[in-house]
Amino acid sequence: MKSIKKEANLVNKKLLLRLDLNVPIVDNKITDTTRIDKILPTLEFLINQNTRIIIISHVGRPKGKIVNELSLKLICEELSKKLNQNVKLFSKNIKEIDSKELFNNNDERVIMLENIRFYPEEEENNEKFAKHLSTLADIYVNDAFSCSHRAHASIHEITNFLPSYSGLQFDLEVNALKKITSEIKKPITCIIGGSKVSTKINIIKNLIPKFDNIIIVGGMANNIIKFMGNNIGKSLQEENSDKIIKEILLLSETTNCNIIYPKDVLVGKNLEGDPQIKKLNEIESDEMILDIGPKTINNIKNIIDKSSTILWNGPAGYFENPNFANGSIKIANKIIENNKSNKIYSVAGGGDTVALINSLNAINDFNFVSTAGGAFLEYLEGKELPGIRALN
Ligand code: 3PG
Repeated sequence: MKSIKKEANLVNKKLLLRLDLNVPIVDNKITDTTRIDKILPTLEFLINQNTRIIIISHVGRPKGKIVNELSLKLICEELSKKLNQNVKLFSKNIKEIDSKELFNNNDERVIMLENIRFYPEEEENNEKFAKHLSTLADIYVNDAFSCSHRAHASIHEITNFLPSYSGLQFDLEVNALKKITSEIKKPITCIIGGSKVSTKINIIKNLIPKFDNIIIVGGMANNIIKFMGNNIGKSLQEENSDKIIKEILLLSETTNCNIIYPKDVLVGKNLEGDPQIKKLNEIESDEMILDIGPKTINNIKNIIDKSSTILWNGPAGYFENPNFANGSIKIANKIIENNKSNKIYSVAGGGDTVALINSLNAINDFNFVSTAGGAFLEYLEGKELPGIRALN
């Protein structure tokens, strides 16, 4: 992989810079800016080299359609503020942009294109779309490690058309994860939660042979709770997941990996509802599982006490509502406590997990915090990610 920091001649070049500015937005406000903050050094480095930068990013999953709530406008404004530099959102249909339309004003150094996932060609890894993108710049830079598990046009196909480099944050994440995975100390516990069930459920099988304990919380645990014959009411779930759950449980029996899932939960009638502790067989049809219960929390704390390495990806519940944040906060606090007394090595990853840890002001109490969620887990699987393969 060629790094932009070391190997590119950048002066006066136009750059297509893929970033992951997929930050949480609630009520038209960005609730955690970590992913913006982390790429500021890259942008400052590139600006100082007298380059012109075209930023590409996605936010959310608009599935190839224009969704006004998923515009990058707010993110562009925030980035402008943080950079102390005008960043212009160029909203024109990307497929119709001619490179001559960009950077006509001499003061214009940084432009942002609208959400790349508004175009179905992005997720299709479409060659024509990537080729068109390449006509806008001289060099491509991937500084979105957290998207590099996606074989999408602006991550993968684009590298066939432009000299391609990794960015500063990308290098930092890959080097840290390389070091962590080569020096990892057993017993290893991986805590997997969050709401992106479809992204993560298929990864677990490949993680089983590598870890001693896999604790499943959040949305994915709902599928296991249902598989065990319980009613999960209106809870978030993935359709047709029985086969993969069966495989996960069978594989864990033939390896030395314990699969741990909640034994009790907190439910609410809706996301804004009040919490109620329930045993798994007590969940009503009009309720949703929104957090783990006290017995489960104690069990997880005991497992953390018996571990040397903790890898954590995805919150235990709907922590955006403080009523359902307790499980995630208790897990975070236990990791922090054991980390401070040097009992464990701890790594956390993923947009929501980072937002939660930030809300506790505890980013520095983990050994490493990655901006990547799905990419972090797929890296742990030992696979070469499409974004890394493309740069190689
Ligand atoms: C993430 O939040 O992990 C990245 O932005 C990738 O998002 P995705 O899971 O929608 O591809």
